[in-house]
Amino acid sequence: MDKMLIVGGVPLRGTIPINGAKNAALPLMALGLLSDQPLVLDNVPTLADLTTMELLLSEIGSVIKRVGKKVAIYTPSIKSFEAPYDIVRKMRASILVLGPLLARCGRAHVSLPGGCAIGARPVNFHIDGLRALGATIEIENGYICANVPGGKLTGAEYTFPNISVTGAENMILAASLARGETCLKNVAIEPEIGDLLDCLQAMGVQVEGKGTPTVRIQGTESLSGAFHKVMPDRIEAGTYIAAAIITCGEVELENINISLLPTFVDALRNAGATIEPLENDKIYVSMSGKIGPLSIETSPFPGLATDLQAQLMALLSVSSGESVIVENIFENRFMHVCELARMGAQISVSGNRAHVTGVEHLSGTSVMATDLRASTSLVIAGLAARGETIVSRLYHIDRGYESIEKKLSECGAIIKRVREGEAHTASGTNKKIAG
Ligand code: EPZ
Repeated sequence: MDKMLIVGGVPLRGTIPINGAKNAALPLMALGLLSDQPLVLDNVPTLADLTTMELLLSEIGSVIKRVGKKVAIYTPSIKSFEAPYDIVRKMRASILVLGPLLARCGRAHVSLPGGCAIGARPVNFHIDGLRALGATIEIENGYICANVPGGKLTGAEYTFPNISVTGAENMILAASLARGETCLKNVAIEPEIGDLLDCLQAMGVQVEGKGTPTVRIQGTESLSGAFHKVMPDRIEAGTYIAAAIITCGEVELENINISLLPTFVDALRNAGATIEPLENDKIYVSMSGKIGPLSIETSPFPGLATDLQAQLMALLSVSSGESVIVENIFENRFMHVCELARMGAQISVSGNRAHVTGVEHLSGTSVMATDLRASTSLVIAGLAARGETIVSRLYHIDRGYESIEKKLSECGAIIKRVREGEAHTASGTNKKIAG
């Protein structure tokens, strides 16, 4: 397994291009199942999760071609209505094929995702919502076994008991080929859902309420093909903002609009960072001195994204005071705390609340990534720590960050990926491990 070696203490300086959003690309790819015409997506990053989605869609019947950042998905017919456990266990977002399969062929057999490192993550809203559209669903042998009597879903009203991002996406996808109108209430307003609705409109579906908690979809007989550019990755951008601030650096992020990070940017400005929009979807970030402490809590958009909580914790672990971070979305998303503590961070956790006492400096050591965002919090901590940090289990990072070491080293960071079987130092000496 690859490892990342980082020698901390170098301020980041330079320009960082932001990719298309993983969490927008995943439902957009699943949308490719709904049409027998080609859907061409642009600005698709190269990430392990998207490769997993490509594999799943190919097994279901899509023909997929990638050229650079463009991915064409063509699904003339559905060959298999199954999402097997072996794929779903690797990537929970595989659940996004459930709605499209039911809508297109009236049948789906999708493994239950089960829990994961950040929490139990049930999919009951997906199941209840699809039942409201007329599907009959049983759970058998760990699988969601779903059928649509008569073969076609029927538009209906469904109110989400709580905000769910992929829950909303599954319902929106299913409603697009249902008979009549579907009205969804208490819908997540994450920008990635708006991106999905834009693409659906381009494919001929009538949609009302984009960016609001009530979305109406007029189901249609068939969807046309379309060309769609995937929106930028706000979580990748927030990660690099935190990295620039912790190193007292000065960077420009390209291809990202500041409006995608409202609460995150406000909080960091209040703590002393300079973060300003520039023309043509760029963001300027600079910091001198220590970041101030913050009292923050995660919540659905436009609140502070849970996907940026770990990165903020790394940053606040060297703040000038006492911070409080409350995690409201996932019950187990503090796995990075023990690893940050190994680097000298002072963090105590009580339930969903973490108290972070800023320390003078972190010190490098070996740490282990536990999930995707936790892994980048360790990289951020390593960029500021004294000495060398070695982050293992990099496959977590590869699920969501394309070329992270390249982007950071181009801004001056001393960071290097070490392939299995090699011993390296971040500054460049390599030795083969004997045997
Ligand atoms: C999406 O996950 C993202 N994944 C996550 O990104 C992100 O952390 C999360 O939304 C919250 O913003 C993708 O978009 C592919 P939810 P999702 O359904 O949709 C509970 C990353 O690092 N819930 O919005 O699975 C659930 O347990 C990640 O890129 C139910 O109770 O999250 C959680 O407490 C990981 N029943 C809350 O709702 C349901 O049926 C929000 O979950 C569904 C959800």
